[in-house]
Amino acid sequence: MVITMRDPYLMHGGDYNPEQWLAMPEILEQDIDRFLEAGINTVTLGVFSWAKLEPKEGIYDFDWLAERIDKLYEKGISVILATPSGARPHWLAERYPQVLRVDERGKRQLFGGRHNHCLTSPVYREKVGRIDRKLAERFGAHPAVKLWHISNELGGDCHCGLCQAAFRNWLRERYQTIENLNDRWCTTFWSHTYDSFDQVEAPSAIGESSLMALNLDWKRFVTDQTISFVEQEIRAIHEGGSDKPTTVNMMYRFEGLDYGKLAGAVDLVSWDSYPLWHKESEWDTARDTAFWHDVMRGLKKKPFLLMESCPSSTNWQSVSKLKKPGMLEASSLQSIAHGSQGVLYFQMRQSRGASEKFHGAVIDHYGGSDTRTFREVCGVGRMLGKLGELAGCTTGSRVAILYDWDNLWAMKNAQGPRNKGLHYEECVDKSYRALRRLGLNVDIIDQSASLEGYRFAAAPMQYLFRPGFAQKIRSFVETGGTFVMTYWSGVVDENDRCFLGGRPADLTDVFGLRALEIDGLYDEEENAALTLEPEAGRPGWLSFMKERYACKYLCELVSPLGARPLMVYGKDFYAGEPALLRNSCGKGLAYYICADMEQKFYDDLYENLIAEAGITSGWNLEIPEGVEICSRENEDFVYWFVQNYNRYEVKVQLPQGDVIFGDKKGELRPFGSVILRVKKTL
Ligand code: GAL
Repeated sequence: MVITMRDPYLMHGGDYNPEQWLAMPEILEQDIDRFLEAGINTVTLGVFSWAKLEPKEGIYDFDWLAERIDKLYEKGISVILATPSGARPHWLAERYPQVLRVDERGKRQLFGGRHNHCLTSPVYREKVGRIDRKLAERFGAHPAVKLWHISNELGGDCHCGLCQAAFRNWLRERYQTIENLNDRWCTTFWSHTYDSFDQVEAPSAIGESSLMALNLDWKRFVTDQTISFVEQEIRAIHEGGSDKPTTVNMMYRFEGLDYGKLAGAVDLVSWDSYPLWHKESEWDTARDTAFWHDVMRGLKKKPFLLMESCPSSTNWQSVSKLKKPGMLEASSLQSIAHGSQGVLYFQMRQSRGASEKFHGAVIDHYGGSDTRTFREVCGVGRMLGKLGELAGCTTGSRVAILYDWDNLWAMKNAQGPRNKGLHYEECVDKSYRALRRLGLNVDIIDQSASLEGYRFAAAPMQYLFRPGFAQKIRSFVETGGTFVMTYWSGVVDENDRCFLGGRPADLTDVFGLRALEIDGLYDEEENAALTLEPEAGRPGWLSFMKERYACKYLCELVSPLGARPLMVYGKDFYAGEPALLRNSCGKGLAYYICADMEQKFYDDLYENLIAEAGITSGWNLEIPEGVEICSRENEDFVYWFVQNYNRYEVKVQLPQGDVIFGDKKGELRPFGSVILRVKKTL
């Protein structure tokens, strides 16, 4: 879905809170002038505006908002209209304390903060629905309004009686009988057997926390409850007569909700990105941010929107680091390269008081346009203004990495095999970096996603298998795909019950092995994987691999059942046992990595496997270290994004094509970028 105003365009703008400036009307006029100067075409209004929109229960005042939407529209600026449910007014909490959250110790919270209401509360839902409906009635048909922004950064749970009751109903529906629940949750353990659903309580530090299946189901319930809240908001908007698209803004590394599921509730995925630039290497930060852009794109396998980013420095990170000159352009363009439909900031004008007054903004307290940040924002505005043709482009990808919230929750909640750190994120990251350094676009997908269309997929540490996942892998490999699985995979079912009969569950024949034991290593310990000599007369692709790679943290021992060991452990009592295996299955190949290998191992292995699978990114020239390559495409063209995250200039050899942004000779200053348009050949 592309959100269009006139011609296709990339959005540029961000969160704007004119309700903080109602007493100074001249500010609005100044701001609009600045927006025009900076090429701002979109602002998000209404996030946290409830107290001004409904100052007293049932008394609505939308005129100030109408006036602002009209004024913005007159100047060609579109609006993303937020529902105000991210923070509530005092009167609501005072009159209906049930809207306040209860923590896991049973304590109801006081009024304050934001994102802390009970999502089950019928009163909260009713009041939110009423104001949403009214907003939709008044503004839903306004031509300036392009998109509904539902609430803000949803997250967190509530343990009140209403939520506990809703959780029990959710469980009743899922398990039907208490005997079934007891069986699935393994409650015989420690005599925690339930006699009825009424005894079930949400997990709590002062109550039940040893039933991993309960912990998992609670997280699923919280996701479902959040989704039903979002759906109720969307229904209210529809009832108010608007069918404009909807979004929710998601967060970096947020584990509280299954984003794979939440994404299904809205039309467009958007997210808020606040990387810690200039900390260690920009290259590391760039790759980490790229991963999260790809997570967001992977949620719907569609373009997403960068809903928030900071034009200078935030004020909530441990150190408020300014973006060095050029970094705003680079990070903004990076989001576009990975599939964003625009670049939006938090925030357009810095608030005067309260907790975010020192957060970076397009317009600061001084208010002038002669600031470094403002100039850089203008630069981004000019850049995006010239790149409208990218608005409808998609991202083509033949390779995918699995990243799944159910799996993440279960694995992190399990006791063992390494409570001081499984290094799961790093494990995912190593696969990601190894594929990205080849210039390949990578989709990050969860276990519910289809594997169709991919030729290569990697499943780092898929401890939990959701129903049907093993079958999906089997068909993928049998029909010719290359699948890489790592240690600690296929261990438990969706209730965190260990599979019986050998792991990876239902796939021991596909991978040609059975996992036996897993060794947790102390931090200072290391083992090694040694490459075996290729058999005489066989294609010696292993010669591309080094002789030895280091591995740490987790080493799994497996027994081959037909798979060919390609590497073996170098030390300990399992020296000589397989560390990497390959199995042919149907028309495809299944690889199993037994230990937490160093990055270089992944780089070398994947380079071989991608070549073996005949996959290319289409970029056949050298990619220097610290340079990121991405592509987006439409029917006629492929657009290559080349970005330099080194602190020094780099010369990149460019293929034939039109340079539509940046230096034609491929000379990239630090944080400099080039965009190249290449005509597709038939
Ligand atoms: C986001 C939030 C915004 C603002 C911003 C500051 O998490 O959605 O409202 O607080 O952080 O960086």
